[in-house]
Amino acid sequence: MTSTLPALWIRIAVIYFVIAVALGVFMGASHDHSLFSLHAHLNLLGWVSMVLFGLIGKAYPVLNGNWLAKLHFWIYNASLPVMAFALYGVLKGNAAMEPVLGMVSATTALAIVLFAANVLFNLHKRSAALPQGAAQTLSTNTSESGLLAQS
Ligand code: HEM
Ligand code: HEM
Repeated sequence: MTSTLPALWIRIAVIYFVIAVALGVFMGASHDHSLFSLHAHLNLLGWVSMVLFGLIGKAYPVLNGNWLAKLHFWIYNASLPVMAFALYGVLKGNAAMEPVLGMVSATTALAIVLFAANVLFNLHKRSAALPQGAAQTLSTNTSESGLLAQS
């Protein structure tokens, strides 16, 4: 799980991206913007936030292996699809979905707090901002190829 968590985030992010943009195109084509908030949050909580979770995890591998990272991943990914479904219902006038939306909004927010805690408590544990081994590869490549001498 440790090494695959960033890749998983990025894979899931692009799925949200495709769905959110398809909804955007549909809204534009149909002139029905009633689902704009669903489109916005699929893009921002789905695509943008998830791809950032993935890229940050890739840049700081120390953030991937602990219980905060795992809870963040599972709570976020269990909450967001339900949040999207409930938001769809609310935007279409189904008042019964409002408490569901409230609940899953809170669990999504909780997952974000877990992510923030992971960053705040664990980021300092390893100083390298590059993936493990990348710093060494970089220094080997630059010295072997004479990259520094060329520049
Ligand atoms: C082909 C791509 C896209 C199309 C066709 C599209 C289309 C639309 C449409 C029709 C609206 C409703 C505008 C309104 O009612 O005022 C909208 C709103 C919005 N879109 Fe997109 N969109 C696209 C991509 C994106 C992306 C990639 C993001 C974010 C990463 C994004 C974020 C938003 C946001 C935040 C709003 C709400 C803006 C507001 O508060 O008025 N959209 N989009
Ligand atoms: C648990 C997480 C979140 C919850 C519960 C939430 C909730 C809301 C609510 C209630 C609104 C007002 C909707 C309206 O007036 O119709 C809103 C709007 C907005 N939020 Fe969020 N939000 C969340 C996360 C985010 C994130 C992470 C971003 C950006 C990265 C974002 C960007 C926006 C934008 C651009 C709008 C204005 C467009 C719209 O009304 O949809 N939100 N959000």
